[in-house]
Amino acid sequence: MLRSTILGLGSYVPDRVVTNDEIRFLNDQHVKCAEPQTETNDEWIKKRTGIEARRYVPNDGKIGSSDLGLYASQRALEDAGVTAKEIDCIIFATLSPDIHFPGNAVFLQSKLGIDGEDGCACFDIRQQCSGFIYGMQMADSFIKTGVYKRVLVVGGELHSHSLDYTTRGRDVMVLFGDGAGAVVMGPKETDSPTDGVLYTHCGADGSGAMDLHLKVFEIAKLPYVYYDAKNRDQNSIMYPQMDGKKVFLNAVRAMVASVGRALRETQLTWKDIDWFVPHQANLRINEAVVQYAEIPPEKALNTIQYYGNTTAATVPLTIDHWRKAGKVKKGDLVLSTVFGAGFTWGSAIFRV
Ligand code: COA
Repeated sequence: MLRSTILGLGSYVPDRVVTNDEIRFLNDQHVKCAEPQTETNDEWIKKRTGIEARRYVPNDGKIGSSDLGLYASQRALEDAGVTAKEIDCIIFATLSPDIHFPGNAVFLQSKLGIDGEDGCACFDIRQQCSGFIYGMQMADSFIKTGVYKRVLVVGGELHSHSLDYTTRGRDVMVLFGDGAGAVVMGPKETDSPTDGVLYTHCGADGSGAMDLHLKVFEIAKLPYVYYDAKNRDQNSIMYPQMDGKKVFLNAVRAMVASVGRALRETQLTWKDIDWFVPHQANLRINEAVVQYAEIPPEKALNTIQYYGNTTAATVPLTIDHWRKAGKVKKGDLVLSTVFGAGFTWGSAIFRV
C-alpha cells in the first residue's frame, strides 16, 4: 500500500524571549518603556492561558514569516536528508504572509534557491491555527496519488508586528508569538496499517468566521484600507479581533469531536498512540480536551508555556521541541488535533 510519510522535521523560533513581566512594558515598537503600556500581569496571563513567555523577531524590518519558514525548512530538509532541489511542491500555511500577494511559498522557494523555469508548485493556504494539519492533508493526498513526491509543508508566523500593545488589545496581544515549523513528506510502500501518515480529517464552520479575524483591509470598500494615524480606534482594523469565550468553547467542542472521530475511524486506542499534540492556543483548552476526550494526560505535549500561540507553526514546533528534549522518538505515533479561526479544525495521525 502506498502511504505518505514524514521524512524530516524542523522548527525555528527567534532568540528574543518576551516574558509576561516584560510584555506590559513594551510599546508598539517592542521597546521596553519605564512605565507599563498595557494593563496586564504575569499572574493573569499564566492563570488564564498557561503562557509564560513568547519569542519575537528582532525589530529591524529584515525578517518576515517567509524567513522564519526558511530556517525551519532548512532544518527539516537536513533532518530528512533531502536537498531543496528534490522538493517538487511547497505548501506554506500562514496568516501573516510577508505581503498580500504573492504568497509566502514563492518567496520561500526563491530563498531555498529552487526558483527558475523548472520551479516546483507553490501553494499558500489560509486556515490559520489549523493550517498545518490542512497542509498535511493536502500533501498526503498529493503523494498518495503520485502528483508530487517530495512535499515541504511549512507553518510560519510573524505575529508580533500586528498586535495592539495597549490595554485595548491585551486579550489577544499576550497570546501570540513568532515561530515556524516544517516537515518534508514523501511516499512509502508499506504493509503496516500504522505506518506513515495513516489518517487526516479537516472541517470548518464558517458561521464563526468573524469571531476571530483580522481585517487590515476590506476590498468591498473604497478606499479598501482605512488608515488615520491620529485615530487609534479606527486603526483597530489593523489588529486581530476575538470573542475569546466563544472561541474557547468552540475549540474545546470541535477538538474533542475531532479526536473521537479520528479514533473511531482508525480503530486505534490510546494504547496504540504515543503522543497527543494539540494546537497551542491556551493550556486550559488543551487540559479540557484531554479531560473530555479521555486522553491519558501524560501523553499530551504542550509548549505554549515557552512560545505562546504560533498559529500554523504550533504542531511541528511542539513535536520538535519535545524531540530535542528526548521525549519524542523517531517512529513514535502522534495524534495531532487543531482548531483555528474560520472556524477550522482537523486531526492527523502519523509516525514522526
Ligand atoms: N490581562 C489582564 N486582564 C485581561 C487580559 C489581559 N491580557 N485580557 C482580558 N483581560 C480582562 C478582561 O478585560 C476582563 O475584564 P473585566 O472582567 O473587567 O471585563 C477579564 O480579564 C476577564 O476576561 P475574559 O475574557 O472573561 O477572560 P477569559 O477567562 O475568557 O480569558 C482568553 C480570556 C482570551 C484568555 C480566553 O477567552 C481564551 O483563551 N480564548 C480562546 C482564545 C484562543 O484560543 N484564540 C486562538 C484560537 S486558535
